[in-house]
Amino acid sequence: MARTPWFGGNWKCNLSAEDVKKLCASYKSVEIQGGADVVACPSPVYLTMVKDLLEGSKVQCSAQNVSATGNGAFTGEISVSQLESVGITTTLVGHSERRTLYGESDETVAKKVAMCQESTKMIAAICIGETLEERESGKTAAVNERQLKACLPYIKDWSRIVIAYEPVWAIGTGKTATPQQAQDTHKEIRDFIAKSVSQEVADKVRIVYGGSMNAKNVKELLANPDVDGGLVGGASLLDSFIKDIPNQGN
Ligand code: PGA
Repeated sequence: MARTPWFGGNWKCNLSAEDVKKLCASYKSVEIQGGADVVACPSPVYLTMVKDLLEGSKVQCSAQNVSATGNGAFTGEISVSQLESVGITTTLVGHSERRTLYGESDETVAKKVAMCQESTKMIAAICIGETLEERESGKTAAVNERQLKACLPYIKDWSRIVIAYEPVWAIGTGKTATPQQAQDTHKEIRDFIAKSVSQEVADKVRIVYGGSMNAKNVKELLANPDVDGGLVGGASLLDSFIKDIPNQGN
């Protein structure tokens, strides 16, 4: 089944406004071939700026995080409806840095997915993945399934879900999963969705890889049938991201 490749550039808490302007100019100068969906995920302070700067290009702007609550007395939060009101219709949810550094539990991540699904537009890229200790003790499938299982009751529109498999040990470490490890784990995740939701949903949902993906390893990773794109951190801060990575997905 042909799935449209999906790529995210996760800029994390990096870049000044000036840096953002330069990076957007280089993102905009490159033609993305074919139909890959590509999003840039800046810090919230730059969301509207990046959205405007990327206007007219194929790259959309995405949030890195969203609130588990709606509008109201929730200091410091950004709600789904606020994002939508400025034209942002994709967000990452449950990135491992949110889970490990900011204590987001499976339940919190599931609430965020629920908020995204309650709207009619918001696409949630749900990040899941195991730590090194969990992989070494054979718990990879169990961890991924636990993290996904928490979200399943709230997902009614699978066309607005992307799954980013990001082994925690590969994020920002320069240590990428081998193409075989990525394929095996993506296949396990797809099989789990087939079993818990339906074969049709499993065939359609994009499962993308994240964890030290770069211009050198992207081709091999994407050569696997169950790897549908990537969520790229460090390498997405380089101008070469946009010309070297998304065009490999065609
Ligand atoms: P990395 O980050 O590419 O720098 O490993 C990926 C991510 O955290 O999404």
